Amino acid sequence: MYNSLRNKHILITAGPTWEMIDPVRFLSNRSSGLMGFEIAMAAVRAGAKVTLITGPAPNRYRLPVALHRQQVTGTCCVIPVVSAREMYRACLKHFPKCDIAIMTAAVSDYRPAAIARQKIKKGPKTLTLKLVKNPDILAALGRRKKPNQLLVGFALESRNILQYAKDKLRRKNCDLIVANPIPTLGGLTNIATIVYKDGRVCQLPHLTKRRLAVRLLKEIIG
Ligand code: CTP
Repeated sequence: MYNSLRNKHILITAGPTWEMIDPVRFLSNRSSGLMGFEIAMAAVRAGAKVTLITGPAPNRYRLPVALHRQQVTGTCCVIPVVSAREMYRACLKHFPKCDIAIMTAAVSDYRPAAIARQKIKKGPKTLTLKLVKNPDILAALGRRKKPNQLLVGFALESRNILQYAKDKLRRKNCDLIVANPIPTLGGLTNIATIVYKDGRVCQLPHLTKRRLAVRLLKEIIG
């Protein structure tokens, strides 16, 4: 792997997004950001220049020390964002100059239609929140992708993993999809299946996210 990604610029998204309801509450999910952080580390070690766009992952401010060191040397740029729309804007800005984009973030599909300016007070027995759709970042990059760029998506599914992953790959114009089951979320390991554009499917063994990150980059380099 040493220097195998030299001169390559890799864009990585990681973590959950927060969709604010009022100044203290938000909609989110259990993503830890670990998969994206491990891929960023592995890519830096392989000589790549990395732009890591991360949502408010629980350990975002405890990013591996090595990643911080790379920030100082200019090999890794960490861009913290909060909401899906912020992540979307950051991705559109950085995608044109990258060679590979790997989207591990668990982006909220919906956000509250309006953010209450004041903390919502307890009221009647039920409370209805109106949600509106967030932009699909992966699909937007798929539409903008140039022939020399490679786009990798993740698919977290509770059923029909393979079928949904294949469908996602086609719909979002990806080159590769990493499909994983729900227990992966927030965990240290993954039992991933890689689905390629040409229809090939590769079932990986139970791996730590650190090992999976290295394996994935090897698959991407080819
Ligand atoms: N993704 C994204 N922007 C979104 C939602 C998802 O970029 N608004 C990306 C994720 O980072 C991941 C991939 O899309 O790489 C798949 O996410 P997933 O939530 O499984 O896909 P959805 O498109 O939301 O599919 P579904 O119809 O199953 O909800």
